[in-house]
Amino acid sequence: MRKDQAGKPLDETTTVGELVAEDYRTARVFEKHGIDFSCGGKAAHLRDEEEKFFPALKRIEAARKAGVDPEIEDLAAVRESLEKFDVEHTEIGDAVHAIRALSKDYAVPDDACNTYMVTYRQLKEFGDDLHLHVHLENNILFPKAAGFL
Ligand SMILES: [Fe+2]
Repeated sequence: MRKDQAGKPLDETTTVGELVAEDYRTARVFEKHGIDFSCGGKAAHLRDEEEKFFPALKRIEAARKAGVDPEIEDLAAVRESLEKFDVEHTEIGDAVHAIRALSKDYAVPDDACNTYMVTYRQLKEFGDDLHLHVHLENNILFPKAAGFL
């Protein structure tokens, strides 16, 4: 039976995330087919934003523009989301800082192979992307959203 790098057998209980951890090249295949290979945290955060927070915020904005009171459920959803996202963004920021520190600011040694270079470049892009996400939401969107409450 085939085993992963830690010696655990690859079988029907092996998760997609474990497969990607075993061989990062599989990530592209899963991405191509829309299969979530993350540990779930990031995907759940984005899903919450897209499916709960933004729709509720749009309904509140529409209600305010129409001069009517927004639904209490929408106000509660936005309020709860803002508190939850604040915590999650702090965790995301801490993780990005830790990765950046551990990689010595994504420094690639002179004798690094292509895989090393590509991995660090993608890691930097991922970190920059998350940083921008957190900045735009924390400093622009969330204060604006709080103004609708
Ligand atoms: Fe976010």
